[in-house]
Amino acid sequence: METKVIKIDENNIDAELAGKAGEVLKGGGLCAFPTETVYGLGANALDPKAVSNIFKAKGRPNDNPLIVHIAEAEQIYELVCEVNERAKAVMKHFWPGPVSIILKKSDIIPTCVSAGLDTVAIRMPSHPVARAVLKAAGVPVAAPSANTSGKPSPTVADHVFEDMNTKIDMIIDGGSCSVGLESTVLDLSGEQSVILRPGAVTAKDLEPYIGAVIGGKNDAEDGETPKAPGMKYKHYAPKAEVYAVEVGESDYTADLTELLREKQAEGKKVGILDFKSGNTYGADEYIFMGSTSEKYASKLFSALRKMDSLGTDVIYAVLGFDDDYSTALRNRLYKSAAGRVIYIG
Ligand code: TXA
Ligand code: MG
Repeated sequence: METKVIKIDENNIDAELAGKAGEVLKGGGLCAFPTETVYGLGANALDPKAVSNIFKAKGRPNDNPLIVHIAEAEQIYELVCEVNERAKAVMKHFWPGPVSIILKKSDIIPTCVSAGLDTVAIRMPSHPVARAVLKAAGVPVAAPSANTSGKPSPTVADHVFEDMNTKIDMIIDGGSCSVGLESTVLDLSGEQSVILRPGAVTAKDLEPYIGAVIGGKNDAEDGETPKAPGMKYKHYAPKAEVYAVEVGESDYTADLTELLREKQAEGKKVGILDFKSGNTYGADEYIFMGSTSEKYASKLFSALRKMDSLGTDVIYAVLGFDDDYSTALRNRLYKSAAGRVIYIG
């Protein structure tokens, strides 16, 4: 199948072009589009055949439920049984934005969307292009991250093209995604509010509005069983072997340089992702990721893909943060490192 790529400028939305994406979605096709978190691979959430094609295009296991995206907050009412007070508070304060809310699903949500669960995740994105596409579609849109299952999530249209060319009908190129990590997944379907996947909206952000929130820790770090079905699979993995390097206050340069030399002595090409600027280690490839966890997170997935395209065999990703936001960053990085974490300093 030919995959059409259409550019839409987020500062000057062309309604006609957004309409083309809407037509693909309405017609049962697959269309990838940008959101503020990562690119999503959309299909009409109420059309089981279209939704099943998402699983095929991604190579995604069937037991991993999808997030349903909406253009207007009110659309949630037909998709879930009941919108409780906590959900209303989150919608009011954080929507549109990078948090998905899980509630008991209504009967119109097909089983393949919820992967057989009695709940469904709903998200209203803030990205202007996502909003325009969803509005044009006129239906709720199921959209996982638009990567091949297991690979880093796409944060620019080129990443989507790499993974999805010939497999889907259309890619809407709306530039790069500002957050760069997937949404916080917040389960409000039970008595307790639980973060199943940490994201840009943290427990600390939520608690003033909905009271105690549990979870939101880095399950990849503490060995806990992943809470969201999708978090148990191999994730965010580039071809290279990734190591998360946690550094403390003291100078880590000498230790890291030694690690890197050992790999290079084995004939391996080594890349470093760093929160301080300057390749003083003699790495073969080097990317400065920015000095805050927000900036680092926004570049993480694209840096992992970049290191693959540069042919690195090993990637050391150096982290020196312990703020709330870094929980989500660590969660993704540790998964891409398949648990390989080194502590220095
Ligand atoms: O930022 C995002 O959330 C992006 C953009 C495109 O919106 N989407 C995204 O979708 O990350 P996906 O499918 O890659 O990840 C959805 C995660 C999975 O870990 C899945 O298991 C979990 O959310 N999830 C979805 N519905 C759920 C449910 N009813 N109960 C528990 N976990 C759920
Ligand atoms: Mg994903």
